[in-house]
Amino acid sequence: PQEDAMQRLIPTLRRDGVDEGLISVINTLQICAKEISFRIHQGELAGVLGSTLDENIQGETQKMLDVLSNQLLKDILLESPHVRAVASEEEEGIVDGHTDGGYLVAFDPLDGSSNIDINSLVGTIFSVLPTPQDSRSGPDMFLQPGTEQVAAGYVLYGPSTMLVFTTGNGVRVFTLDQKVGEFLLTDTDIQIPRETSEFAINMSNYRHWQPAMRQYIDDLLQGSNGPRNKNFNMRWVAAMVADVHRVLCRGGLFSYPADSRKPNKPFKLRLMYEGNPMAMLVEQAGGIAHTGEQRILNVQPEHIHQRIGVILGSAEEVQTCLQYLQGSQ
Ligand code: AHG
Ligand code: MN
Ligand code: MN
Ligand code: MN
Repeated sequence: PQEDAMQRLIPTLRRDGVDEGLISVINTLQICAKEISFRIHQGELAGVLGSTLDENIQGETQKMLDVLSNQLLKDILLESPHVRAVASEEEEGIVDGHTDGGYLVAFDPLDGSSNIDINSLVGTIFSVLPTPQDSRSGPDMFLQPGTEQVAAGYVLYGPSTMLVFTTGNGVRVFTLDQKVGEFLLTDTDIQIPRETSEFAINMSNYRHWQPAMRQYIDDLLQGSNGPRNKNFNMRWVAAMVADVHRVLCRGGLFSYPADSRKPNKPFKLRLMYEGNPMAMLVEQAGGIAHTGEQRILNVQPEHIHQRIGVILGSAEEVQTCLQYLQGSQ
């Protein structure tokens, strides 16, 4: 029993020396994760599948689970005295919480929305920032580079529900024990292998990519007969949480690069809700997370719904990809 207690989330955070206010915020997030997990696993029985008639600020049709997960996270987080404000992929503006709260939480309540109705993988992504010490208010409070994050992570609602997060002290993995309803520590320090022969990219966008990105993928596809001298395998779940989880578990390169489909909107993934939290996890696990131009965590956000290019994963493979992109500039 003693050992079991040591594996629980809160004692692990205390052992890591995490600030009590932040522990409380992470505790709130894991309560939300369990609520969302329960509904997702009940699926059709919980009456939570399907779309709404609404569109979000990203221009996407909202699924019922996007709305429900967003509402749960918002309601539960805003009850915490430690939360100053929240920002969400599904909300146009930020929502204020407690004036004295020391933390800001940005989240993607339901990642991989297109997988909901096919009983496939989805997740929740979160990023915790400190409340700025100056007089800023509103969305401006969130406009801090990812290097300022004090915690970041995701929940993967897979065959098992997993909570993967970092407070800047390595990447911890917890698995939801359905018998006791608690997240238990199942991996203390994930490290991404430096080399890989697996990549994840939506190939159907090939024609929209920059020539250098096409060249990088062309060379991969030639396998052992081409300049890379090895065969690569491809995976694409279409939920960043699941694709990044695979990269964390066994290595790989994941990319949603710039493309020219919408000239004013060359990127798909969002900096605050997807790029930054995943970049912090990947770096903590020894990988690289880049926009193609700079380290994701160094990007100075200009607005909360900003989008960026993403190339992340095994350090050597990301470097190789960047050599193609930077060689072309
Ligand atoms: P969300 O469901 O939160 O809007 O995010 C979807 C994102 C990301 O999870 C995934 O990697 C990517 O969109 C999938 O895009 P495609 O449908 O273009 O493959
Ligand atoms: Mn969405
Ligand atoms: Mn997402
Ligand atoms: Mn989402």
